[in-house]
Amino acid sequence: MHDVAFEKVTKKFGKVVAVNNISFQVNKGELFTLLGPSGCGKTTTLRLIAGLEIPQSGNIYIKGKNVEKLFPKDRNIGMVFQNYALFPHMNVFDNIAYPLKIRKQPQKEIIHKVTEIAKNLQTEELLSRKPNQISGGQQQRVALGRAMVQEPNVFLFDEPLSNLDAKLRTEARSFLKHIQKEMKTTAIYVTHDQKEAMAISDRIAILDKGVIMQVGTPKEVYKNPENVFVAGFIGDPPTNLLNCSIKYNQNKTVLDFLQFKLDISPIRDLVREKVNNEEAIIFGIRPEDITVEYKNASPNSIKGEVFVVERLGPETIIHVKIGNLIIIVRDFSEPDITMGDTIWLKIDFNSVHIYKKEDGKIII
Ligand SMILES: Nc1ncnc2c1ncn2[C@@H]1O[C@H](COP(=O)(O)OP(=O)(O)OP(=O)(O)O)[C@@H](O)[C@H]1O
Ligand SMILES: [Mg+2]
Repeated sequence: MHDVAFEKVTKKFGKVVAVNNISFQVNKGELFTLLGPSGCGKTTTLRLIAGLEIPQSGNIYIKGKNVEKLFPKDRNIGMVFQNYALFPHMNVFDNIAYPLKIRKQPQKEIIHKVTEIAKNLQTEELLSRKPNQISGGQQQRVALGRAMVQEPNVFLFDEPLSNLDAKLRTEARSFLKHIQKEMKTTAIYVTHDQKEAMAISDRIAILDKGVIMQVGTPKEVYKNPENVFVAGFIGDPPTNLLNCSIKYNQNKTVLDFLQFKLDISPIRDLVREKVNNEEAIIFGIRPEDITVEYKNASPNSIKGEVFVVERLGPETIIHVKIGNLIIIVRDFSEPDITMGDTIWLKIDFNSVHIYKKEDGKIII
């Protein structure tokens, strides 16, 4: 049994299809992330789980039970939003206690639970302060505490860290992951930040325009993006996606890319099986799967010009201009190069993916 399951769910607002026939399952104790650009339907999906929106079609299950007829208050969901939505006139204690108070739980139990959670979230010394007397990161913990106190079936997090600065955000995200794993409560986390999604998730569903493009572990979606959307969305910098074609000459198989004819021997047999001669394809290669040669051209390399160099400490990101195209490369050798230099790129053909031109779906 899954803790949350969507079965062909569609939600429209007038003519806008916010969520388009999506199905996915979230396992017990999992931290499952909905990732995608603005407007792709992430918040709508969470609101459907919480019962704040009603789908036009499809079924939603929580703990194996179809929740169609359940009101939001009966779904026992703990939600944390981007703006925390703390009550400004209540102190931290009362904010965390709120879900228990409206359920009319005994005062003694409320005190016990709130103190316990405040200890867990390292906010004990803040209990008597108002939200405007604590930092953004602390407010975020209080909002988490308020969601935890009711011991929900599922946590729903809608970009809960986006109001925090970069340093606090990475701290808060590891804290949140730790707490979630400790509590073993299933969580659905929404973000448009692929790095955050990769860092925090057990599995990720990547959405585009209300459609799920892929579901997988961070490693799976990184190593094997099933379509050009995922390849271009995951990774920083993302996959280089190049329009080219495959040509079969007598006994050679080459990748026809701009003026280059690259020998693709390592994947020749696979390509011959799946790609037609002269078929237009999109060729995907990660920035770290390209080696840079700084001095000489070796056979089967692509000549380019250094366009931009970003030195990020342990790694250097190089934007290389080839004709009118830019290919991005990741290099760990601290190269001594500058704009305008000529360099050569060598592709590791064992690490490439090939996508269909017309629909962007993976072939290899
Ligand atoms: N109440 C509503 N009325 C009309 N259209 C809506 C409503 N809520 C959402 N939409 C539309 O549905 C689509 C999905 O919206 P949603 O809020 O789910 O996106 P999102 O992925 O959460 O985006 P963001 O990252 O910007 O928060 C958008 O096109 C949005 O404009
Ligand atoms: Mg949203």
